[in-house]
Amino acid sequence: MEKQFKRTLVTCALPYANGPVHIGHLAGVYIPADIYVRYLRLRGEDVLYICGSDEHGVPITIKAKKEGVTPQDIVDRYHSIIKDAFTGLGIHFDIYSRTSSAVHERNAAAFFRRLYDDDKFITRETEQYYDPEAKTFLADRYITGTCPKCGNPGAYGDQCEKCGSTLSPEELIDPKSALSGSAPVKKKTKHWYLPLDRYEPWLRDWILERHKEWKTNVYGQCKSWLDGGLQPRAVSRDLDWGVPVPVEGAEGKVLYVWFDAPIGYISNTQELLPQSWEKWWKSEDTRLVHFIGKDNIVFHCIVFPSMLKADGSYILPDNVPANEFLNLEGDKISTSRGWAVWAHEYLKDFPGQEDVLRYVLCANAPETKDNDFTWKDFQQRNNSELVAVLGNFVNRAVVLTGKYFDGRVPEDRSPEAIDAETLAQILPCREALEKYVETFHFREALKEAMNIARIGNKYISDTEPWKVAKTDMDRTASILRTCLQICADLAIAIEPFLPFSARKLRGILRVGIQAGTDHRAGEGAPTENFYAPEPVPGLHTAEPSGEDLVLRWDDLGRSDLLPAGHVLGEPVLLFSKIEDAAIQVQTDRLAAIKAAREAAEAAKAAEEAARRVEPQKDEITYDDFARMDIRTATVLAAERVPKTDKLLKLSIDTGIDRRTIVSGIAEYYSPEDMVGRQICILANLAPRTIRGIQSQGMILMAKQGDGKMRFITPQEVVANGAVIN
Ligand code: MF3
Ligand code: ZN
Repeated sequence: MEKQFKRTLVTCALPYANGPVHIGHLAGVYIPADIYVRYLRLRGEDVLYICGSDEHGVPITIKAKKEGVTPQDIVDRYHSIIKDAFTGLGIHFDIYSRTSSAVHERNAAAFFRRLYDDDKFITRETEQYYDPEAKTFLADRYITGTCPKCGNPGAYGDQCEKCGSTLSPEELIDPKSALSGSAPVKKKTKHWYLPLDRYEPWLRDWILERHKEWKTNVYGQCKSWLDGGLQPRAVSRDLDWGVPVPVEGAEGKVLYVWFDAPIGYISNTQELLPQSWEKWWKSEDTRLVHFIGKDNIVFHCIVFPSMLKADGSYILPDNVPANEFLNLEGDKISTSRGWAVWAHEYLKDFPGQEDVLRYVLCANAPETKDNDFTWKDFQQRNNSELVAVLGNFVNRAVVLTGKYFDGRVPEDRSPEAIDAETLAQILPCREALEKYVETFHFREALKEAMNIARIGNKYISDTEPWKVAKTDMDRTASILRTCLQICADLAIAIEPFLPFSARKLRGILRVGIQAGTDHRAGEGAPTENFYAPEPVPGLHTAEPSGEDLVLRWDDLGRSDLLPAGHVLGEPVLLFSKIEDAAIQVQTDRLAAIKAAREAAEAAKAAEEAARRVEPQKDEITYDDFARMDIRTATVLAAERVPKTDKLLKLSIDTGIDRRTIVSGIAEYYSPEDMVGRQICILANLAPRTIRGIQSQGMILMAKQGDGKMRFITPQEVVANGAVIN
């Protein structure tokens, strides 16, 4: 039994304001949510669309420390970069606020306080690492030490980035505070915990029994958390950045970021709609949908619902469509390693091509498994799908109409069966598209929208109006009329996916679209949206235009959207080809990042290899040692042994005699390096002939773990022939 709702509240995961938004975020969360919201609005539904920056948490304080600025500086910088990038991509939230706002600070504290007063928390005293020099408790990230699993000396208290193990600070060998470098000490501290175990039976029923329709990845993760058994979860931290814990005796403590951030959805709603926010959060008529990435599932399906349940006055999410991760050119996207395509940089590099990114990220969205973004695929999808199918079809239809019918929609003067048969294929596309969007299958939905363009492209290629026009203008009229109806269908169908191109297309066809309401104006009447055509001066504007011709979603699939005589606008191109050079710039940039990273990794590996020490050899007696005649000597002359890479022939003064030694050090020293240097030799080694030269003895070398060699030289110059023992 489908529940009937009066309105839909859509939230998008609040991005951390410690870095810009990249294609992984867009593909996983924001593009799907935007398609969903645009679609619902086209269908006339009342939708509220909420997001904002997540501005608390330890990583932000670490980044600030690294840069020598305040956490506020960091979040101010990224909040505006992120906000502008969303706007640039046509993602218009009703509100995009921030968790450092005054409304949120008050609201999050009040939320905590209600649960506190209602005895919903338990407290626990634990021992945690404390930096006695900096006089502060240390978040796990602030403790570094040696990884117990792989020996990496730079592991963090929560994770070793080298071997990927999850760690706790207690496991680190030789832990150090990242603040002062001093050794942390254990100190008692008290925190508040949400006893998730109490909610377990309720969660099992709510999710596992009553939300079997959730996406399998989401349902599966919830099930495995629940099957593993839930533990009380700390909701406060010893930190000086965040919302202060609003109770006595909580000095120096703030709300855990994952406690305050989801409350941010509510705070941002309150900020936008101070009088009427409650109907969005407390009425069973509201359908709440959280769009998130897969690393957020537990927080949105288990922790936040338990918080809402503990409060008791809020609705719960009806669905939590989470996507998997998007990779970039085969590698995991990483903000810290710079391996990403940033939304704000894309907008600079590809102005006017916002829809191409939206298209590619949707067509390639990681809906059921991790997926890969490549620039080649990006170029190909633009050139062979957007340009060659959608753009080409619309352009042919409109240009030919300009040429033969003065830019007016012709009459259906000579219909044939293929026309009606073609138009009849559109409604099934619409129905499939609807079903897919409503079940969060956006890639499939986009395919259906593109199918309409494919149907049109095939029809115009099959009917060849440019040839028919030579002999039969009546038939040409019917063909182009059919094509233009399909163009109008497209103007509606692509709107959720490609809003910039849809707007252009409305300009070309001179139609508007009724697009539901938004709440960007805040309190009061929601704004009725009419998506106007793009205001380009039309070729045929002298005529009364059809600007007041308004299409609705329900028109999609009807075969008479544009009446005969309707005047079209200018046939601008919807898409343009992306050339190899533009792609090359991007792949070169990534290659440079990769090369720099590989060089850094190689340097680090070499450093570690060099530090590797050979185990001690078997025991010997003093007599064994005393049989070796080791002495100081000076190099008098040196030359390369011809036709070898490694050998130098050295003539040396041993104090006892002058002799020749052949030594494999040419990789590390040139002959000039050696002349005049004092060295140590094993003088009584039996002579050997190497490359026809008799070598009388051996030079003592120190050999590092990576094989690199250095000769041994006395700290101060001593007489040649001094015995070493
Ligand atoms: N900042 C988190 C992330 O980027 C998402 C927070 S979602 C919220 O993974 F619910 F906490 F707001
Ligand atoms: Zn490790």
